[in-house]
Formats: sequence, structure tokens, C-alpha cells
Amino acid sequence: MLIPVIMAGGSGTRLWPLSRSLYPKQFLPLGGDSTMLQATLARLSELPVSAAVTICNEEHRFIVAEQLREFGEMGTIVLEPAGRNTAPAIALAADIAVHLKGDHDPLLLVLAADHVIEDQVAFTAAVEQAIPSAEQGKLVTFGIVPQSAHTGYGYIKRGDNVDSGYAVNQFVEKPDAVTAQQYLDSDEYYWNSGMFLFKASRYLEELKAHRPDIAKACEESMQDVTKDLDFVRVNKEAFIKCPDESVDYAVMEKTQDAVVVPLDAGWNDIGSWSALWEVDEKCGLGNSTKGDVILHDTKNCLVHGMSDREGGRLIATVGLDEIVIVDTKDALMVAHKDKVQEVKKVVEKLKAEG
Ligand code: GDD
Ligand code: MG
Repeated sequence: MLIPVIMAGGSGTRLWPLSRSLYPKQFLPLGGDSTMLQATLARLSELPVSAAVTICNEEHRFIVAEQLREFGEMGTIVLEPAGRNTAPAIALAADIAVHLKGDHDPLLLVLAADHVIEDQVAFTAAVEQAIPSAEQGKLVTFGIVPQSAHTGYGYIKRGDNVDSGYAVNQFVEKPDAVTAQQYLDSDEYYWNSGMFLFKASRYLEELKAHRPDIAKACEESMQDVTKDLDFVRVNKEAFIKCPDESVDYAVMEKTQDAVVVPLDAGWNDIGSWSALWEVDEKCGLGNSTKGDVILHDTKNCLVHGMSDREGGRLIATVGLDEIVIVDTKDALMVAHKDKVQEVKKVVEKLKAEG
């Protein structure tokens, strides 16, 4: 049995103004009818999994509980008093999976709550393929054949063949553009999909070896765990002191014991408006639209307004190419498709202005 660990604590700032700190993208129905969190759980239906451990920010507890109830299985919901990124989140989930489930050393299938995967059969097959290596104590990651020199991903250099895939020769999180281009040209690298399979004990051991400070803060956070209603809460004071770091920098770049299993399943992390444009159905000339929209001489654009129910207004465009327009109740965003990664800068500015 695998225990799914669903990381649902991100802020999704690159999808502003739709994704907000109070309602980030993993809780929105992007790329499908159900929310991204629900789609993540639904994707597991053919795998030998037990109920999931979902880990999220305390702020979002009611959204998560409601969405899991609607999905039909609550599992365990772990609340972080503050976001400290994915290395601590997985450590808490690993500890809780071991303690609460009474399973000595479960295999954890760690998933982001905000990915789109079109081919569930291929996804299921890749996870099944990864199980033997994970059982041998390897930290398995799923690699995507890169399509561009994207600097928002981890890059994994393929090594020798092993049972499930390839040994990882090198893992580089978010390289600069020149390095990413070299990796792309070499044909030896995968993108890190941000999904992992490993034994709980192996993750905790590797975290302790490479980031003892994070491991210690997480251990201390586990000292007075409480459960109220559907929620598991950790020690707030201890967790606040935990360094902020992602699993990629804290463990995956440093471990000598990683394996990569190739994944070709129509994966997309909807990391930006252009990524959403890629998965959206187009209504001709490469345009993706929502709401009340009139397009004239417009191509390759994403124009998302609100529905009538949300009080949407008409959006009309003339003579546009490669532009993203997103209208919400209190903010309108217009950006060039090549620059949409920088939307997060707007959010930073907004935060700075308070
Ligand atoms: N519980 C919890 N707490 N979840 C978090 C936190 C946190 O503090 N921070 C992020 N998450 C969740 C996000 O909601 C998302 O589902 C997942 O963890 C990954 O976080 P991102 O912030 O989206 O990471 P990224 O996209 O920059 O990079 C990761 O994913 C890429 C692929 O999408 C890395 O693993 C890269 O190496 C990888 O290529
Ligand atoms: Mg992401």
C-alpha cells in the first residue's frame, strides 16, 4: 500500500489575479471540471493506495476539508501554521503517516496538488514501475522529457539503467537560462515533475543527513500534535522556527540515492498563464476563452472573463496576438504571453504596498 501525500500549501502567485492567497490555484477547477486538488486524488483510483495525507496551510483548512468531503474521502489533513515550503511539509507528512497510520515504514507517493496529467494510465504505470526501487530505499522522482529551457523546473541528469528507470547522476533545481539550455541540448536531462515515491524512513534519514536543522525543527513540531475535528495540528512555535526550503534543494540535489522514472503522460504543472493556455481547449486561431468574449483579428490569446453568475462583463479584443487577459471582480491583468512568469512580481509589489 502506498500513502499519497498531497502537497497543497503553495500560493500559486503566477496565476494572479485568479489565484489569490486566500484561494490559491490548487483549489480552482483549472484544466478540468473538478478542482486541481480533487483531480489529484481522482488520478489515484487505479493504484494500491490508502487514504491520503493532505498537507496545507492552516488558512485553507475549510476549503480543503470541503473539497475532500465533496471528493468523498477525507483522509488525514495536516495543517501547517505557516508555509515553510515542501521539505518540512513532506517531513511532517512522513512522520504523521508513520505515527497515525500504524504502518511501520510506508511508501509515500508525494504529489503536488496543482498538476494536470492527461493520461492516467501512463501515470499509473510509471508509479507502479517506481515501486521496486522505492522499496529498495531509493528516492524516486518522475522525469519529463523537457520541451524548452524553462528555468522554473528542476533538471535531472540520467545515469545508469536500474530496475525502475535510471540512477540520478545530477539534480539541479531551477538552473539559470544558459545552463538550462545546455541541459536541453545535451538530451541527457529530464525535468523534475515534482512528484516522488520513497519510504518515509528514507526521506527522513536523507533530510537529517543533509538538512539536520529542518529535520530537528520538524521533529520538535511533532512533539505535541493535536487532532481536532478533521485536522491534525503540529506545534506552532517549533514549526515557525523551521527554515523555509523545498525538497528539491534540501534533499534531491544532495542525495546520492535517487532514481528517475520517465513519465510521458501529458503532464503540465499549470505554473503560469501560458501553461494554462497550453492545456485549455482552443476555440479557433489558438485562442482560449472564458466568459463573455468577442474576439476580432485575435490569435493565440488567453482571454478569461467571469461568468454571468459571477457578474462578468463583456471583453472585446481587436488585433491581438500572444496576449493574456484575465478579468476578475477586483483586478484586471493584461500581459504578453512571453512575460507571464513575471506576474508574480506584481503580487510581490502588491504585498510590499500592503
Ligand atoms: N503543504 C505545503 N506547504 N505545500 C506546499 C508548500 C508549503 O509550504 N509550498 C509549496 N507547496 C506545494 C504547492 O502547492 C505545489 O503543489 C507543490 O508543493 C510544489 O510547489 P511549487 O511552489 O509549485 O514548486 P515549483 O513548481 O516552484 O517547483 C517544483 O515543481 C516543479 C514541477 O512543477 C520543484 O519540484 C521543481 O523541481 C519541479 O520541476
Ligand atoms: Mg509548481
